[in-house]
Amino acid sequence: MNESNEMVETVSMPPAASPMIEIKGLTKTFGQFQALKSIDLTIAKGTVFGFVGPNGAGKSTTMSILATLMAPTSGIAKVDGFDVTEHPAEVRKRIGYMPDFFGVYDQFKTIEYMHFYGASYGIPKHEREQLIPQLLELVNLSDKKDAYVDTLSRGMKQRLCLARCLVHDPELLILDEPASGLDPRARIEMREILRELKAMGKTIIISSHILPELAEMVDEIGIIEHGRIISQGNVADIQNRMRVKRVLFLRLSDRNEEAEQWLRDQPFVGRVLRDERGIHVHFAGHDEEQAALLKALFTAGFAVISFSEGQTNLEDVFLEMTKGGDGLA
Ligand SMILES: Nc1ncnc2c1ncn2[C@@H]1O[C@H](COP(=O)(O)OP(=O)(O)O)[C@@H](O)[C@H]1O
Ligand SMILES: [Mg+2]
Repeated sequence: MNESNEMVETVSMPPAASPMIEIKGLTKTFGQFQALKSIDLTIAKGTVFGFVGPNGAGKSTTMSILATLMAPTSGIAKVDGFDVTEHPAEVRKRIGYMPDFFGVYDQFKTIEYMHFYGASYGIPKHEREQLIPQLLELVNLSDKKDAYVDTLSRGMKQRLCLARCLVHDPELLILDEPASGLDPRARIEMREILRELKAMGKTIIISSHILPELAEMVDEIGIIEHGRIISQGNVADIQNRMRVKRVLFLRLSDRNEEAEQWLRDQPFVGRVLRDERGIHVHFAGHDEEQAALLKALFTAGFAVISFSEGQTNLEDVFLEMTKGGDGLA
């Protein structure tokens, strides 16, 4: 199945401190088309990782490889120290995979559907009878246990799919676009469930082509474009690395007009706008430069009442990063 892979290692036991996901030089080629171009990605245990990129970037391909459903062309992908091609059974035990499509199961009621999956993992009936109500409770579907799966809303189906991924108590959840097509309320419900799963100690990799969808859900993000990871880190790191434009808001007790002019001459300051509330400053510096600006304001004798940082949202970060051509590779 994987003769072309010359880089696989033989692993018997995972090292104690192995990351949950370790990907090195991973490539995937479909015919002439390179869907993944040497991807490196390391995700520590317990992390909720947002995998973000436009459609066609390679998210589902990467996730299918991690889920052992697709063989890599070359490179290494390990889950909890186990190589996906060398030890697929060990990997499968540890993962719950939620694909980006939902099949048709019109013959099943919710509870039957869960038993079907539980049984396919070899979980005995008496255990399933304990476990399945708990899982349905976790995803808020207890009152839908006797409903036919086809009658569930999209959000409910997504949650059922998530419950299904959990039957064998996996350590790693691989969730491919679980929030896509959900209305805001369903998305909030999904976020709450992910929070509970994180509290249970699960590692979660969750993809989206819409960055704000993942805001407040994730600890770290990795941005993928055209089969390459263009950045990985916690959100704050990435913001710092890119010198995101911040919006600073100032209130002074007097000399506002003078301060407006003064600010325009300071380093990293872009546009300066003044209204009845105060002065808004577009600022392209890092934390240090921002601290220096505040110090300079005091030194120049301005009476600062308030100096605050507006929220830079992930959307802005993403647009900035994926504009391309600024050497962020
Ligand atoms: N089985 C396949 N055969 C040919 N090309 C594929 C196949 N699967 C994915 N691709 C291509 O690989 C690229 C990455 O796809 P995918 O991983 O699904 O992206 P994403 O999930 O980020 O939208 C796309 O250009 C897609 O058309
Ligand atoms: Mg996809």
